[in-house]
Amino acid sequence: MPLLEVKNLNLSVLTGNDLLPVVRDVSFRVDENQTLGIVGESGCGKSLTSLAIMGLLGGTPISMTSGSIVFSGQELTSLTNKERRSIMGNQIAMIFQEPMTSLNPVYRVGDQIIESLRKHRQMTKTKAKKRAIELLDLVKIPEPENRVESYPHQLSGGQRQRVMIAMALACDPKLLIADEPTTALDVTVQDEVLALIRDLQQRLGTALILISHDLGVIANTCDYVAVMYRGKIVEAAPTADLFSNVNHPYTHGLLNSIPVIDRDIEWLKAIPGRVPTINEKLAGCAFNPRCNIAENICTTCDPEQITLHDDHYVRCHFAKRGTND
Ligand SMILES: Nc1ncnc2c1ncn2[C@@H]1O[C@H](COP(=O)(O)OP(=O)(O)OP(=O)(O)O)[C@@H](O)[C@H]1O
Ligand SMILES: [Mg+2]
Repeated sequence: MPLLEVKNLNLSVLTGNDLLPVVRDVSFRVDENQTLGIVGESGCGKSLTSLAIMGLLGGTPISMTSGSIVFSGQELTSLTNKERRSIMGNQIAMIFQEPMTSLNPVYRVGDQIIESLRKHRQMTKTKAKKRAIELLDLVKIPEPENRVESYPHQLSGGQRQRVMIAMALACDPKLLIADEPTTALDVTVQDEVLALIRDLQQRLGTALILISHDLGVIANTCDYVAVMYRGKIVEAAPTADLFSNVNHPYTHGLLNSIPVIDRDIEWLKAIPGRVPTINEKLAGCAFNPRCNIAENICTTCDPEQITLHDDHYVRCHFAKRGTND
C-alpha cells in the first residue's frame, strides 16, 4: 500500500464568477521511505498541490473540485478539520519556502518546537525542551543549548531554515513535504540545507516530497520525478529513467537548463516563452506555443497520458518519437 496516493486531483480558483482550473488531473504516489520530486516553472501548481495534501486551502479562493488524497489508507478529503489537524504536523509535516513567514518572530525558536511537541506528543515541558535541543543538534545548529533560547531574528537565514526542518521532524512524521526549501537562501547555504535534508531523509527513513523549479536539485535527491506544466503532470518517471529516456519537450528544456560543469556547451538554453497564465484560454497542449516539435494536432487536441513503460508516463502526442533538437 502506498503511503500517499493522490488521484486525479483537480483544483480551481474562483475569479469573479468563473472557476478556473489551476491543477488538473494530477496523480502520483509516494511509498514509505521514497523520495518524490515535483519540478516545474513558477505558477505551474506545485505549491497548491502540496497545500491541498496538507488541507491548507481553507480561506483561499482555491477549491478542490474533484480527486482523492489517501494517506496510510485514509481518505484525507473526507476527514473533519479536527481529524485532519491531528495528522498534519504529526504524520505529515511541511517545510515552507520562506522560514520567516512560518516562524513566529515574538517566540523563542525552542518554545516553538516545544509547543509542537507538547501539542502532538503530550510531553512534559522538561522532556520537550530536551527533545528540542536534540532536534537542533540533529539539524546541525551549533551550541543548541544556547540557540534554543534565540528568537528567529537572531539566527541566519540558513539556521532559520534548519529550525523549520527541526520543527517539521519534531514528531517523527512519516511524510515530509519540502516546498522550495532553499530558494530564499544563498547558493552555498542552499547546498548545505539540501544535503541536510538528504541525510536526514536517509537516516530517518522519512518519505519526502521535494518541490523545486530546479531539476538538478531534484535529480540529486529524489528516486522519482514528476514534471508539472501549467497544472498538469506532463512526464513522470524514476529519476535515472527520466534522464536516460527523456520524452516530453518540456522536460528536455528543463534538462538543458541545468548547468553541468564538464558539459561542452557555452550557454545554457532557456526555454523560450513563458508559462501561460490561468486566465489565458489555450486549445490543445498547453506547452505547444513554446514547443519546438509541435504540429497542428498539438494546437487542437490536449494529449492523453500514455505509459511508455513501467512507471514512466508522458503527455505528448510525439512522446515515442523523442525530442531531438
Ligand atoms: N490564492 C490564490 N489566488 C489566486 N490564484 C492563485 C492563488 N494561489 C495560487 N494561484 C495561482 O495558481 C497557479 C499555481 O500556483 P502555485 O503557487 O501552486 O504555483 P507554483 O508552481 O508553486 O509556483 P512557484 O514556483 O512560483 O512557487 C498560479 O497561476 C497562481 O497564480
Ligand atoms: Mg510554489
